Amino acid sequence: MWMFGLMSALLLTGIPVPPASPADEIERKIAALLRQMTLEEKLGQLQMLDGDVDGSYRPDHLDLVRRGLVGAFLNVRGARRVNELQRIAVEESRLKIPLLFGFDVLHGYRTIFPVPLAEASSWDPEAVQRAASIAAAEARAAGVTWTFAPMVDIARDPRWGRIVEGSGEDPHLGSVMARARVRGFQGHDYSASDRVLACAKHFVGYGAAEGGRDYNTTDMSERTLREIYLPPFKAAVEAGVGTIMSAFNDLSGIPASANPFTLTTILRGEWKFDGVVLSDYTAIEELMAHGLAADGAEAARYALDAGVDMEMVSRLYSRHVPQLIKEGKLSMATLDEAVRRVLRIKFRLGLFERPYADEARERAVLLRPEHRAAAREMAARSIVLLKNEGHLLPLSKTVRTLAVIGPLADDQRNLLGPWSGDGRAEDVVAILSGITAKLGPTARVLHARGCEITDCSSREIAEAVRLARQAEVAIVVVGESAEMSGEAASRASLDLPGRQLELVKAIHATGTPTVVLLVNGRPLTIPWIAEHVPAILETWFAGTEAGHAIADVLFGDVNPGGKLPVTFPRSVGQIPIYYNHKRTGRPPNPTNKYTSKYLDEEVTPLFPFGYGLSYSQFQISHLQLSRQRIRPDESLTVSVEVENIGSRTGDEVVQLYICDVAASVTRPVRELKGFRRITLRPGEKGRITFTLGPEHLGFYDRQMQFIVEPGEFRIFVGTSSVGGLEASFEVVQ
Ligand code: BGC
Repeated sequence: MWMFGLMSALLLTGIPVPPASPADEIERKIAALLRQMTLEEKLGQLQMLDGDVDGSYRPDHLDLVRRGLVGAFLNVRGARRVNELQRIAVEESRLKIPLLFGFDVLHGYRTIFPVPLAEASSWDPEAVQRAASIAAAEARAAGVTWTFAPMVDIARDPRWGRIVEGSGEDPHLGSVMARARVRGFQGHDYSASDRVLACAKHFVGYGAAEGGRDYNTTDMSERTLREIYLPPFKAAVEAGVGTIMSAFNDLSGIPASANPFTLTTILRGEWKFDGVVLSDYTAIEELMAHGLAADGAEAARYALDAGVDMEMVSRLYSRHVPQLIKEGKLSMATLDEAVRRVLRIKFRLGLFERPYADEARERAVLLRPEHRAAAREMAARSIVLLKNEGHLLPLSKTVRTLAVIGPLADDQRNLLGPWSGDGRAEDVVAILSGITAKLGPTARVLHARGCEITDCSSREIAEAVRLARQAEVAIVVVGESAEMSGEAASRASLDLPGRQLELVKAIHATGTPTVVLLVNGRPLTIPWIAEHVPAILETWFAGTEAGHAIADVLFGDVNPGGKLPVTFPRSVGQIPIYYNHKRTGRPPNPTNKYTSKYLDEEVTPLFPFGYGLSYSQFQISHLQLSRQRIRPDESLTVSVEVENIGSRTGDEVVQLYICDVAASVTRPVRELKGFRRITLRPGEKGRITFTLGPEHLGFYDRQMQFIVEPGEFRIFVGTSSVGGLEASFEVVQ
């Protein structure tokens, strides 16, 4: 109205009328479409249906598309199939509204990058952004317009298999990675032919599942929600993420897919999110199983009213909303708003002008050599050196006999990890192949599986031992299968499955210097290995180029610089164990029984958050603060010098933590507030400067207001969440 009034005023005065902005133009088109849509067609836009596992569509869905009763598909992919369905939508349906095609492209479409937890171990947001942009280019070429990523759930419990899909336990690292991935997937404009619409998931609190059991209840204070679980979502929204997926979990009594506080008050109200909220798979129907909704109609009403625009797979909106509107239980305005949001992203994607994928482009883009090269680099940057006693690593390329042992040594499929898009096992460079390629024909590379991941015979172990005895070095590749992490893959034990530890012990007992390579999607409890085996590399599920990347690190062509994005416990009994815990009234004290600790276990982790070694050594010094006192609305800078005092070029990740010493609400022992990965040549020095401002120093007070309180802050700058240089400053009123 206001715009209209202004325009007519301008026309009357003869001042040239500014052309409608593209955004206004879109809103006008949406309004025009909405006016033509029947109630059934509106509900169709809010429906996402599932294709078949192989990426094709179900024939019985064709008729629904023709009648305009579907807004989107998931899992249907490949330019040809997508085009077949799209053609029906844009040529045969009454209003010719194009379909969205969504798919879980978490760490690559065809060229598979390391799993997201591994990528987070790189502490390198530029590399992570590049990986996401390559995933986007491949996915879009294959007709996928929407990825159900990034997964930005904070996870403090490694029993939860989905920890592999995110960036670990820390809200700051998680927010940086969320931003990088959204930018990588969407670019500046997700209508581009090499970008996709992103979806931050699972909103919210899903990672706090009790007992680490997937789909389980979560119950937390609003403060924990705001300070730990929400920040990566907020970062994704600020980076312009187009869509959000509402989670499966019960969140403090109100399931996340029916929660008006998180979906409307926070997401729409506080953060001004104008994109689409999509439910997780049948999450709306599951509101009945939660015991929130008595029937399907009530489930639909709860979800739509709370702010879930689109329903994945279950079909309660289309079934029940007409009656709910008739009975006055839902307003047409609520429905129209949801439809408007879905249409808006279709316009923003450019689908009305360019609905089809290009099959020739698809062939040209998938698995391009430069994509593989980027995946190799990303995988190498994600590897974490956990131990390197006596500088056993890097190995010499002139080694004559090497034994490569273990159930994952010659494996291709598992290295893709869970949610591996359209990745193919046959594209994967196995670790054995990567090592063989690196060493060339002059070396003898012996191989035995030694055991299966979950099973084995003593004869197999004996054969592996026989080979290890002949070798100068034994590399033992152990870990989990891809299916052991990801969705519905919670574990009660985090030990190496099966008899793999027995295999490691037997190889180690030969006296041949032994390197353990871990292939896994979560922290594992490996105290025996950490104590006895001289060299350990955490390689995660490293993707298509795993073998080459791992060989690059093993033989020193790449100096490892990754850091753990999550704490490694000594035993499951320590869980939850995370670095940014509260202090308690009785912090652990070994000389006082009545302090917070265990009778039968250490309180410290096996490997702390932020930890990781290099083949080089670094020294951090000259910690300087720009100011000793600031006011609550001011900032200060913190800088340090970092020097490579080793003999190889390498990377260090310098980390800045703060501790608010005393506040009106208790604060954690430490909180990560900045980090930088830097590459230095031997003897080279660099200076790193961080800025600390109100957004880093504030917290939610007793009234849930975000404030910076006066008082002392301690800061720590180091190479992990333990130790480091210390200083302090004061916030004064
Ligand atoms: C998962 C989501 C995923 C969806 C579609 C669900 O089971 O929780 O993360 O995006 O399936 O595949």
